[in-house]
Amino acid sequence: MTPTHQRLRCDQTTVWRLLEKQFSSTGSSLKLRDAFAADRQRFATFSQSAPYVFADLSKNLIDTATQELLFDLARECGVERHRDAMFAGEKINHTEQRAVMHWLLRSPAANGHASQPLATESRQVHATLDAMLAYAEQVRDDVAITDIVNIGIGGSDLGPQMAVLALDGFATTGKRLHFVSNVDGHELAAVLQRVRSASTLFLIASKTFTTIETMTNARSAKQWFEAQGGKNIARHFAALTTNVVAANEFGIDTTFGFWDWVGGRYSMWSAIGLPIAIAIGAQGFRDFLAGAHAMDEHFRSAALEQNLPVRLALLDLWYRNFHRFTSRSIAPYHSALRRVPAYLQQLEMESNGKRVDGAGEALPFGTSPVLWGEPGTNGQHAYFQMLHQGTDVVPVEFVAVKKARHDLPGHHSQLLANVLAQAQALMVGKADAGGHRHFPGNRPSTFLLLDDLTPASLGALIALQEHRVFVSGALWGINSFDQWGVELGKVLAKDIEPRLHSGDVSGLDASTAGLLQRIRGA
Ligand code: F6P
Repeated sequence: MTPTHQRLRCDQTTVWRLLEKQFSSTGSSLKLRDAFAADRQRFATFSQSAPYVFADLSKNLIDTATQELLFDLARECGVERHRDAMFAGEKINHTEQRAVMHWLLRSPAANGHASQPLATESRQVHATLDAMLAYAEQVRDDVAITDIVNIGIGGSDLGPQMAVLALDGFATTGKRLHFVSNVDGHELAAVLQRVRSASTLFLIASKTFTTIETMTNARSAKQWFEAQGGKNIARHFAALTTNVVAANEFGIDTTFGFWDWVGGRYSMWSAIGLPIAIAIGAQGFRDFLAGAHAMDEHFRSAALEQNLPVRLALLDLWYRNFHRFTSRSIAPYHSALRRVPAYLQQLEMESNGKRVDGAGEALPFGTSPVLWGEPGTNGQHAYFQMLHQGTDVVPVEFVAVKKARHDLPGHHSQLLANVLAQAQALMVGKADAGGHRHFPGNRPSTFLLLDDLTPASLGALIALQEHRVFVSGALWGINSFDQWGVELGKVLAKDIEPRLHSGDVSGLDASTAGLLQRIRGA
């Protein structure tokens, strides 16, 4: 059998040529208003229900003929086989020789025999989950603990922080959660000023337990704790890591582990999710996992034609490689989803920001778009001008929630009216006015709609995005699960730091040397 990383890359398929033809004949000039006028079923044809998420894809620059070719592309690239390999626990992260099984973290406990595939891993997952949730409940009940400080960065920060904010309405403990990620001491110092050692629990979250920012912050937090007279490290520090040995060496004995088959940016479903569990409770966290699991099942079993992550990823490829759009804007119309764009940046750009395929060959086409965004309606008063009238076309992904969980009259209907209006305005434009008042329209958008923002629907929304990134990575033939690109800067920073103290600039390029000397005031 062909190793999964040697599957056919999108541009090596036969259907790729047909897509090129399709693009130059009709695809590049598709007019959304004409497409709606010509097809009364367009909304139905280009919408898709998935667990907890309804997606309207009809305002995208696509027609049924293009969509058919894109489904053929997914088949020819072996997306289903690659997906099945992930769900079978194969080592599809071949550059690190690791399986990719964050989905297992949200699977119900295996009730079968030891012979069942991945039964051992599943048992470990549930033993750790049970222990982690019991600890979360203990912390929730502990009235002496008022503040939780999560120290972690990247996947050990963005997910928990995003989810804690998103699920603020479900937070029942009244504990204050703080997130410290940056090595910039201003961040930790500001938090330490607001907490007391006797009532604070520090969570040191790091998959590797070697990340320089996290270790620096963790050391400073421990020194501060001890300087304040704090003694009981076991009660005031816990580590969330795959490297329990390093955590113990650091002096932390309260640990919750996970495994190398959980990528950092896919880890909030593991022990890294402890801040979420402390905020919303054990049952809330289980609901969060269950929502994600429902999306896993959809991705695993729905036919390509009704598979929402697949449909989103195919659009992503169509935009990136045919229209050559270089970015995508995320516009969550819910203030609690304000960290979702930052979370998705890591998910998409660290996963698919790659320039070589699985075999290490340079790719002749573009991969990850730039992801960016702010919650609506704020973005409307900042950068939406460019989306409507700028020279570049940026596909927008709106996320809206039907139900409000506050009772302030008038707000929610205004919010929903705005999100609908923005998607409409981008599409229809305004042709009857010239010059500065002209809106070209025909600007694509996707509309994701949740009934309610709950732990389960948030879980499903994020799992949807994970699988969509998986599929686009599979089509591009890249390994979405390594991140070698982050290494060089880390190595160089190690070299530069002592030079900031010594002033030695030998061997440095002139710009770095000049800046270093300027910083030292020489
Ligand atoms: O530098 C990138 C990265 O390795 C991310 O992939 C990861 O989420 C982050 O650093 C933090 O890593 P760790 O959890 O091991 O501290």
